[in-house]
Amino acid sequence: MKNFTYSIPTVIHFGEGQIKKLGGEIAARAHKVLLIYGGGSVKRSGVYDAAVAQLKAGGIEWAELSGVEPNPRIATAREGVRLCREHKLDGVLALGGGSVIDCAKCVAAGALYSGDPWDFSAGKAVPEKALPLFTVLTMAATGSEMDNIAVMSNPETNQKEAFSGPCCYPAVSILDPTYTYSLPAFQTAAGTADIMSHTFENYFSPIETSYLADSMAEAILRSCIQYGPKAIETPDDYEARANLMWNASWAINGFLDMGKPVAWSVHRMEHELSAFYDITHGVGLAILTPNWMRYVLSEKTEHRFARYGMAVWGLDASLSPRVLAETAIQKTRDFFSSMGLPATLAEVGIGPEHFGEMARKARTGGFDKTFVPLSAEDIVEIYRMSL
Ligand code: NZQ
Ligand code: ZN
Repeated sequence: MKNFTYSIPTVIHFGEGQIKKLGGEIAARAHKVLLIYGGGSVKRSGVYDAAVAQLKAGGIEWAELSGVEPNPRIATAREGVRLCREHKLDGVLALGGGSVIDCAKCVAAGALYSGDPWDFSAGKAVPEKALPLFTVLTMAATGSEMDNIAVMSNPETNQKEAFSGPCCYPAVSILDPTYTYSLPAFQTAAGTADIMSHTFENYFSPIETSYLADSMAEAILRSCIQYGPKAIETPDDYEARANLMWNASWAINGFLDMGKPVAWSVHRMEHELSAFYDITHGVGLAILTPNWMRYVLSEKTEHRFARYGMAVWGLDASLSPRVLAETAIQKTRDFFSSMGLPATLAEVGIGPEHFGEMARKARTGGFDKTFVPLSAEDIVEIYRMSL
């Protein structure tokens, strides 16, 4: 195992009815917040009303920013920063999925930064301070509720870039699984694929001596395979929704990394698809992941895929490593399809026209020292295999 630092300051209140703690938690840290949400699901589901009741009970004033887009846009965050300054707000409350929470992180940091908040995504600045952020999660997927990452999009330049900073962790997150009952099957499937992808990104690593992290990764994957389809079939299955929600937080909160060199290869490739075509993040991951697996499968890596096949899919250990690996990859592909997710780029209207540019933009220095190093040409090939 490598050296690592593990520190998560986010307070999590998990379970049905935990929103009752929101007002007190905010009142302890802020007086007047920006209430930020997406296209209206929180109004339909009652989450908005429950949160507003908490603000009133806590004597907290607020201003509102609605309409945060899936793949949140920098222009929306700029508007949030403007509102924070205009109303002298001292906190941000996000109600929604990863897009709303990411946008809220950008606003919270942008409000205390003198330049343009896109500077964070452009790598021109690292956020050093932020307003306290409170989240009420409505979708199990990104883990943004318990990590310090935000991913913002700039459609004018076809850019989608992540940033992070120690100040970007939410102060408090409310994780009530019943708030995800209203999530449509398609988004439930996409969220499950995203959780699994975060787990894969950490699990397929050149460092294979993190027994605890690897076993936890396998447990998260088994849990997604068990509960993703259950939540799709029975949207108000509390056990399924609760397990997916907690899986999501732990797949990306730093525990699975444990100092491993993680390039987030498939994520980097997917963010380019979203940047150019504005597709759903989890859908892009479901399409790319089995093809990335097939591309990096070799004599050198097959033992790792074989372990995945045995530990996650219960495959027979007496099979050869290559057969185990290939079967596990096929099962991964079939699982995503079984949840109704597209399997090819063509199905989501993506052709090869930008593959070269996307591959160049996707590739970072991290690709040199991860599980299997990939060049821009390799990435183009994986895009081609996904067509
Ligand atoms: O906008 P509303 O009306 O709220 O509807 C949303 C949106 O249309 C809807 N939804 C969410 N909860 C719902 C619901 N509809 C009904 N009932 C509910 N309970 O679902 C749609 C998708 O929401 P979104 O927030 O976009 O989904 P997700 O949580 O998957 O977030 C995706 C974004 O997060 C980024 C992705 O790239 C993408 O931009 N990521 C953020 C990460 C992070 N911060 O650590 C890591 C991830 O890898 C990812 O890159
Ligand atoms: Zn993701």
